[in-house]
Amino acid sequence: MVVVARVNTVAFQGIDVLGIDVQVQMSGGIVAFTVVGLPDKAVGESRERVRAALHALGLALPAKRITVNLAPADVLKEGSHFDLPIALGLLTVMGVLPDAEIARYVALGELALDGALTPVAGVLPAAIDALANDRGLICPAACGGEAAWAGPELDVLAPANLLALINHFKGTQVLTPPKPRLQEQDAPPPDLRDVKGNETAKRALEVAAAGSHNLLMVGPPGSGKSMLAARLPGLLPPLDPAEALEVSMIHSVGGLLEEGRLLRQRPYRAPHQSASLPALVGGGTRARPGEISLAHQGVLFLDELPEFPRALLEALRQPLETGKAVVSRANHHVTYPARVQLVAAMNPCRCGHLDDASLACARAPKCAADYQSKISGPLFDRIDLHIDVPAVSPADLSLPPPAEGSADIAARVAVARAIQAERYGGFGPYPAGRAVRTNAEADGELLEKVASPDASGRALLTEAAERLKLSARGYHRVMRVGRTLADLDGAEGVRRRHIAEALSYRRIAPGR
Ligand SMILES: Nc1ncnc2c1ncn2[C@@H]1O[C@H](COP(=O)(O)OP(=O)(O)O)[C@@H](O)[C@H]1O
Ligand SMILES: [Mg+2]
Repeated sequence: MVVVARVNTVAFQGIDVLGIDVQVQMSGGIVAFTVVGLPDKAVGESRERVRAALHALGLALPAKRITVNLAPADVLKEGSHFDLPIALGLLTVMGVLPDAEIARYVALGELALDGALTPVAGVLPAAIDALANDRGLICPAACGGEAAWAGPELDVLAPANLLALINHFKGTQVLTPPKPRLQEQDAPPPDLRDVKGNETAKRALEVAAAGSHNLLMVGPPGSGKSMLAARLPGLLPPLDPAEALEVSMIHSVGGLLEEGRLLRQRPYRAPHQSASLPALVGGGTRARPGEISLAHQGVLFLDELPEFPRALLEALRQPLETGKAVVSRANHHVTYPARVQLVAAMNPCRCGHLDDASLACARAPKCAADYQSKISGPLFDRIDLHIDVPAVSPADLSLPPPAEGSADIAARVAVARAIQAERYGGFGPYPAGRAVRTNAEADGELLEKVASPDASGRALLTEAAERLKLSARGYHRVMRVGRTLADLDGAEGVRRRHIAEALSYRRIAPGR
């Protein structure tokens, strides 16, 4: 019988995995059961669940001094997935499980009082890490489909309860390896065909999809802004396998992969104005990715933008700029990927009817300036496309559905995206370490290189910049959008007509 048992498990820092060694020692002395090594509250409570689960198996904890050490001791251990490795360590030290076998696996899972294994967050990254370290993985049955995504070479044991696992090692009831599962293609994403009229807005949505530009829609209630936003993911190219894995890892760590099924569609997240800062950017009492990371490689929709507290909007600026959300923990920082396309919508003023004299309130148009000034200039600057979405007329609503649907537009978007991938692929990571793949990400010197308009385009841009008092950022925004319009056109260079259209996606906020 071993004196100290060791079981491999993991801790998460962002979507990165850190190996944790669970050491269980049984010795003489005062009867006790302690867990040391910077456990958080959920880990501390592990003791009670483990004790109850062993009791359910008919095993009493030996009347000895039991010490569980989670090493390295300087990493905070968060979450409930330590139940399983602790229980396995105890069973090993008690001689129920073979220690040489257990050492070949990484284990994570939460125990119910009856010994059943309940699902935990982070199984996918843990599985990928286990395979990289030539180990197998033991996880709850409900997470088996997720673990199997690490590859067919990974040895996955996904028992429904502790007893099934013990029987597996005894050889009396062998566990079958789980199969990888995909998110079922439930309802097809909403189609742009449902939107009648609003041609300018649809064109802007296509441009946004093509260059992955952020988009702001301003219009009265009921003009179709939410409808349009929800249709953007359907215009974007599907996730490639590497992206699908990365997005699924974030959702896994967030505990959101339904029955361990990998995601196939680009995420679309629409957090409410009352969301907390941790819910939006990440962190909180337990380190979890926020909405901006759950929307990674997809769309983050902020409806009624000025209704979001200013502090929240300011906190989004950094991730929007860098594509990463940095969350501070007690003694370190955690980084989650957060490369999103932002779509924001707002009413022109609080009551929403600024442009309709019969409905507008008595304070118009002053109220609009007040309302729109709630959003800081720097945030506006990160949104390349600003458009008006006027109310649809009854005549438009009675039109037959448009001939062109999301699939047709997505095909054009895919071509424009391929042109961009090829162009930026030739430049390598730019600037240092940050790979540019779409026009929206091009800036400064790179933008000058790829998006310089022809002479008449340049003249128009210079003239408009003076007349509209464009800031340097505003000037570059027009160039970026111009580049995307040229790509949609299949044009080598940016021409005057592209600059002219790009300038039309610059709605001027009153009072600015
Ligand atoms: N262009 C449109 N074509 C068809 N229906 C529309 C259109 N615009 C609005 N609607 C209808 O009005 C409802 C409200 O639209 P919504 O997108 O929520 O407006 P908003 O977000 O601008 O307030 C939609 O559910 C839809 O039924
Ligand atoms: Mg709406």
